[in-house]
Amino acid sequence: MMKKSILKLNAISPLADGIFEGYEYGDDVKNPAGIMVRSAAMADYPAGEDLLAVARAGAGTNNIPVAEYAKKGIVVFNTPGANANAVKELVVCELFLGGRKIINAIDWVKTLKGEGANVGKLVEKGKSKFVGSEIAGKTLGVIGLGAIGIMVANAAEALGMKVIGADPYLSTHNALMLDPSVEVVPDNAQIFKRADFITVHVPLNDQTRSMFNRETLAQCKDGVVIINNARGELADAAAIAEGLASGKVARYITDFPCDELIGVEGAICVPHLGASTPEAEDNCAVMAARQLKDYLENGNITNSVNYPAVSAARGGGARICVCHKNVANMIASLASAVSARGINIANLVDKSKGDYAYGIIDLDGAADDNLLADIAKIDGVIKVRAV
Ligand code: MLT
Repeated sequence: MMKKSILKLNAISPLADGIFEGYEYGDDVKNPAGIMVRSAAMADYPAGEDLLAVARAGAGTNNIPVAEYAKKGIVVFNTPGANANAVKELVVCELFLGGRKIINAIDWVKTLKGEGANVGKLVEKGKSKFVGSEIAGKTLGVIGLGAIGIMVANAAEALGMKVIGADPYLSTHNALMLDPSVEVVPDNAQIFKRADFITVHVPLNDQTRSMFNRETLAQCKDGVVIINNARGELADAAAIAEGLASGKVARYITDFPCDELIGVEGAICVPHLGASTPEAEDNCAVMAARQLKDYLENGNITNSVNYPAVSAARGGGARICVCHKNVANMIASLASAVSARGINIANLVDKSKGDYAYGIIDLDGAADDNLLADIAKIDGVIKVRAV
């Protein structure tokens, strides 16, 4: 019998409540089958023995020990694209903040409070300090052409920028979604060399950590504007501070403030507002909840970061779901465990992602505990259950 219990580790839009109707769903659920999370740090969270999956209502999963969970057969989901429009709108705002001294100018106007009828004259006299430039005609480099990157690239094209983008994992779907005027370049080096503005939309991992560092900043144009709404650790804060001091970097605009950059001239630190709109919070919650529920009830995997996408329509019989290591001969071993019990397989689908793989086996009849025990004994099987 499937355990219907979901723990909320953060406040999640109430739109998820209806999706989990019939479940025990709240912030005090013990040993849950699933977890809904936004930004709570899960590295030290004790994963209970019944935990099957974690769904992050958002794109980044660096608050979740994804690799550890893969080893335990705990599937981690995210919601790519669900908050993309909210982030795109913030980036568009930041492009203008990058071109013009809007924030300094607004701060200066506040100092004119109390000047009475002189305000108009003082404004006209003082405004020359805040002259900025337009973004039209400037080159924007987009690093990462996923759901957010393509929306940003297309919006910037529509605003008259010349857009170049790089992404070693660019999918055919995303390539087709790009405005045809966007130039896809082979690597980030091209972006560093050619862009007046750079915006980054990649996950944080060992390949991307500190991608903005002394060496890459040296390759950039003087006065480059860097926009980072992806994760703070993508930039080496000390290198950015040096770049701002020397004028190499005109502005560094980030959704991830850090102590070294708060208050530094040219650094604009936004308090992680990228996805903080009711629309994005609703979209992320609904997508995360639907994916989690479909996994718990049907074993289907959509948008997992540590297991492959595997889905199949339900037939009339039982379904066996197997998280396993990506090793040779597994499909044959699974099939022979089923046939050894005289059960016919109606459908079998099994896919891999890196070191791990996942299989769905639909049976013509019912599953029994002995079959699950036989499968659990196969070398390389991590977790098996019937749904
Ligand atoms: C994301 O990872 O989706 C964004 O940073 C927003 C968030 O953390 O919720």
